[in-house]
Amino acid sequence: MLVDGYGREVDYLRVSVTERCNFRCQYCMPEKPFSWVPKENLLSYEDLFKFIKVAIDEGVKKVRITGGEPLLREGLDNFVRMISEYKDDIDLALTTNAYLLPGSAQKLADAGLKRINVSLDSLIPEVAHKIAQKDVLSTVLKGIQAADDAGLKIKVNCVPMQGINDSELCDLLEFCKQKNYPIRFIEFMENDHADSSAKGYDSIQIQNILKAKYKFEKLERTGSSPSQDYKTDDGYVFGIIEPHKDDFCATCNRIRLTASGVLIPCLYFEDSQSIKEAIQNNEIDKAAAILKDVLANKPEKNKWSEDSTVSARAFYETGG
Ligand code: 5AD
Ligand code: SF4
Repeated sequence: MLVDGYGREVDYLRVSVTERCNFRCQYCMPEKPFSWVPKENLLSYEDLFKFIKVAIDEGVKKVRITGGEPLLREGLDNFVRMISEYKDDIDLALTTNAYLLPGSAQKLADAGLKRINVSLDSLIPEVAHKIAQKDVLSTVLKGIQAADDAGLKIKVNCVPMQGINDSELCDLLEFCKQKNYPIRFIEFMENDHADSSAKGYDSIQIQNILKAKYKFEKLERTGSSPSQDYKTDDGYVFGIIEPHKDDFCATCNRIRLTASGVLIPCLYFEDSQSIKEAIQNNEIDKAAAILKDVLANKPEKNKWSEDSTVSARAFYETGG
């Protein structure tokens, strides 16, 4: 079992396979690519897998593949297969913008993937275009349907943005409710890479918008989910992710690995250590020691709970 310096059990590893993306979401990476990590600096799937095995052997039970957009990296289904075949009870999930799912959902399901989280910020083509800076909506909806048809469990992420998609939050909830996909509204996390005019909403504001159409009650928090869940009077459960809240980090069970082998203890905390050399040299004990050291230094809280703080780390590196 892996435990951090504050006694939290860490059993969830998020692995980014690329920082590249085919979207330019305003809250994430609005500018054209600047200096992508050169491909040769990335860890191969084999090396990423070596570290995943270390983490699983030390007690990780849940692995999520993220990006950037993970489906941009070729052969992702084989990577999924490597992990799912190593331990078949591992909770293996993928976060994607869904654009490439029409051609890959079935292959991913066949390789052992069980669950995906998709971004869906608008149901209006022009608004979705404005957010992603590309005409994405019809393909995204096809991708989500393809995943559903392939038997993947689907959760939806939505970042409410002032003056952009705020009039659609009830429609987005209704869409997901009809499809029986849990939706989670995420408070915008301020970061240097986002559009500088981007403004989000806090949980109370999101709830007030939803109250125009829905009656819901707050559910007791269980487990380590970052989401505070709510239940509508007709039984649909949705969530709000509130990283600005003081107690958000109390049950954090996560650690993140970037595509170039940097192990990050917290999304908004500057410290990190590379496992690249240890893994490439097959120094498995050393990689395990670095993992434990990074966990020992996992901070108690992120810094969004402090006033007016803006993370310098990009979400497309860490996969959110
Ligand atoms: N604030 C909140 N959520 C974000 N995401 C990406 N950037 C941000 C941000 N600045 C979320 C999106 C996406 C997931 C990968 O991360 O909802 O679905
Ligand atoms: Fe790409 Fe996801 Fe960032 Fe949007 S939020 S630009 S889809 S990595």
